[in-house]
Amino acid sequence: MSKTKQRVLSGIRATGQLHLGNYFGAIKGMLALQEDAQYETFYMVADAHSITTPYQVADLRASRLAVVLDYLAVGLDPQRSVLFLQSAVPQHFELSFYLSSLVSVAKMQHLPTFKDKVKQHPENVTMALLSYPILMAADILLYKANQVPVGVDQKPHIEAAREIARKCNSLYRTTFPLPNFFNLAGEYIPSLTGEGKMSKTVDGSYINLSDDLATIEKKIARIPTDSGKGQVKSLSTAKTKLHDSVYFDANGQESKGVKTLMILVELFAGSSLRKEYEASYQKQGLRYAEIKKDLAKLIFEELMPIQEKRAKLEKQVDYVSAVIEEGNKKAQTEATKTILEVKDKFGFNSFF
Ligand code: TRP
Repeated sequence: MSKTKQRVLSGIRATGQLHLGNYFGAIKGMLALQEDAQYETFYMVADAHSITTPYQVADLRASRLAVVLDYLAVGLDPQRSVLFLQSAVPQHFELSFYLSSLVSVAKMQHLPTFKDKVKQHPENVTMALLSYPILMAADILLYKANQVPVGVDQKPHIEAAREIARKCNSLYRTTFPLPNFFNLAGEYIPSLTGEGKMSKTVDGSYINLSDDLATIEKKIARIPTDSGKGQVKSLSTAKTKLHDSVYFDANGQESKGVKTLMILVELFAGSSLRKEYEASYQKQGLRYAEIKKDLAKLIFEELMPIQEKRAKLEKQVDYVSAVIEEGNKKAQTEATKTILEVKDKFGFNSFF
């Protein structure tokens, strides 16, 4: 493999079905970098990360296959990307242990992602959960990745990985590039409830990549809205690539559901339609029933080809297994190179 190309690594945890949050957070970025000839892309199913929270063996078995099928269905291409299973490359765990010697317990306890999980599962705060970001840093550094396409919620983990890389390079003279957070939308895909982000663990918050038109219509119809008229306050401090506005209804209350709706409109129909709607919101008023029906249709049109491709792939078990086996081998080859270098620099070189 070429050394001049930049490396990309990403993964999605194998837990349940993928939704629009994953699609815009991680997958769109993964696809964009795969299409760019300047990058060499490694995409794994983060199946080992799945056991950092309580799980059922049968569910894990189903989910890791589901993520592989979803990867292929959305257009990740085994000709251009190395597709593999994290658990098939034991060097991830090996590097994770070496790196753990560089990280303080306090640092891991203070990560927001750790604190959230402690709240969700207070009776299951395991060592695996605490060292989740170290395994993730190992995933990234093992392939010397420069870019990591992930959702905004993963940003603290990328920062942790950068810090670990920096420390390792300065203490042991390793040559890890500092990995960069890569995100196309630049913000959370909002929950359909209007509060927080789209999340698998919040009912009514998400649209699955597998949802049919009727389901999408029903879910979109439930986004809370207002009378259709109000004020839009555009934020000048936009950190995101999306247009950034807040909506206040006729009584001056913030309409968070309207914001969710407008973000989805921008993602699926473009920013000019969102701007048109914002103008109407402040003049003649919006008719949400129509807007929602149109939006549901656009979402389904984007998902339909993915669903059709997935249905075909489900029947091609041998092809899918061969793709993963080949990806696992390529990943192992790269991983072995890095581990040999790390072992040598940490002092585990051969005796004689
Ligand atoms: N933590 C990521 C998530 O929950 C999954 C993941 C594991 C990952 N290892 C990674 C993402 C390495 C990018 C790079 O979505």
